[in-house]
Amino acid sequence: MYILLPDAHHILQAATILRAGRLVCFPTETVYGLGADAHNDAAAASVYQAKGRASTNPLIVHTVDVHMAKRYGIFTDAAMQLADVFWPGPLTLVVRRTVDCPASPRVSAGGDTIALRVPAHPVAQALLQAFGQGVAAPSANRSGRISPTCALHVVEEFTGNPLAPEMILDGGEAEVGIESTVVDCTRPQAEILRAGTITEDALRAVLHAVEGMPSHHAKPADAGSTLRSPGQLESHYAPRAAVRLQARNLSADEALLAFGPTELTAPQMRNLSPSGDLDEAARHLYAYLRELDATGAATIAVMPVPGGGIGDAINDRLRRAAAQRPAPADRTL
Ligand code: TXA
Ligand code: MG
Repeated sequence: MYILLPDAHHILQAATILRAGRLVCFPTETVYGLGADAHNDAAAASVYQAKGRASTNPLIVHTVDVHMAKRYGIFTDAAMQLADVFWPGPLTLVVRRTVDCPASPRVSAGGDTIALRVPAHPVAQALLQAFGQGVAAPSANRSGRISPTCALHVVEEFTGNPLAPEMILDGGEAEVGIESTVVDCTRPQAEILRAGTITEDALRAVLHAVEGMPSHHAKPADAGSTLRSPGQLESHYAPRAAVRLQARNLSADEALLAFGPTELTAPQMRNLSPSGDLDEAARHLYAYLRELDATGAATIAVMPVPGGGIGDAINDRLRRAAAQRPAPADRTL
C-alpha cells in the first residue's frame, strides 16, 4: 500500500491499476472508497474478499456524472430530480439496472437494482474522468468496522491483508465524514435506506413524498425480516471497545466522546464539536472513535447528540457502533 499525493501522474497510475483489475483507494467527500473496475467481475469479487464482506451486500458504482450513471441505471423522474439537485454530492440512488448494464452482476449482488453515486471530491472526479467508466467502491474498511476518513485509517484497515489496495490516493481528511444518504428510487415512493448528511427534509424539499428510515430496517438479518439494503445491519461501524450511549456521567476506566459545551472530562477524551455543530460532529465522528479505541479503553462513553437533520445520521451510526456484535463466525458483512 502506497500513500500517494493525488497529482495528475498518480491519478493516471491509479486508473491503470483499475484497468488491470486491481484495487485503489481514493478519497470522496464522505469517506474513503475501496475502488475496483465496476465492469470487471474478478475485480468486484476481490473487493468483497478484501473487506471480508458478504457477497449478498451490493456495492455502490461511482460515476463521473449523471450521463455516465445512465449507462448503468434507469432513472425514474424521482431519481432524475434528486440527481439534478444533489449530484455531485453525498447521495446514492438505487435504481433498476439497464438491460445492457455493463457493470458486473456482482456489484448488484446478483439483483436487478444498482446503487449509483456521483462524488463531488475533486480527486474522485479526476480518477473517474481518467478511468472513463464506473468504479465500484464500498467504504475502505474491513466489514463491520469504522469507515476511514483519511488515508492512514485505510492503512490501519488493510495492513497485513494480502488483498490490500495497491495504492491509496491521499486527499486529506474527508469533509463530510459519514457515508452518503442512500435512497431507493425503485418504488412508487422514494425511500431512505441509509441516513446521511442529505437529510429527509432536504430530500422532501425536492420530492415531496419520501419515506423515512423506519427503525425495522436496522434489524439483524436473522430476525426474519428481509433486508432491502443488506448494509442496514444492526452492528456496524464498530470499534473494538464497547460503546455506551447517552452518557451523562463517567466511570474511571471509560474514554469520553463528548458533544457540545460540557463539564465532563476524562483523561482520554475527544469532543465531536465543542460548539455543538452537527456538521463538525459528523466530520470528526469516525476519526475520534478510532482514536479513543486506540487508547485501549474498555468502553467509550458517548454523550447525547441531538437528533433531527444530520443528528439523525450521527445517531444512526452511534447506535450501530454500540449494538451487540455478531459472533466472529457470523461477522460476514
Ligand atoms: O459515502 C458512501 O456511500 C461511500 C463512498 C466510498 O462513496 N461508500 C459506501 O459504500 O458507504 P458501502 O458499500 O460501505 O455502503 C453501501 C450501502 C450498503 O448499505 C449497501 O447495502 C447499500 O449501500 N447498497 C448498495 N447497492 C444497493 C442496492 N442495489 N440496493 C440496496 N442497497 C444497496
Ligand atoms: Mg461501508
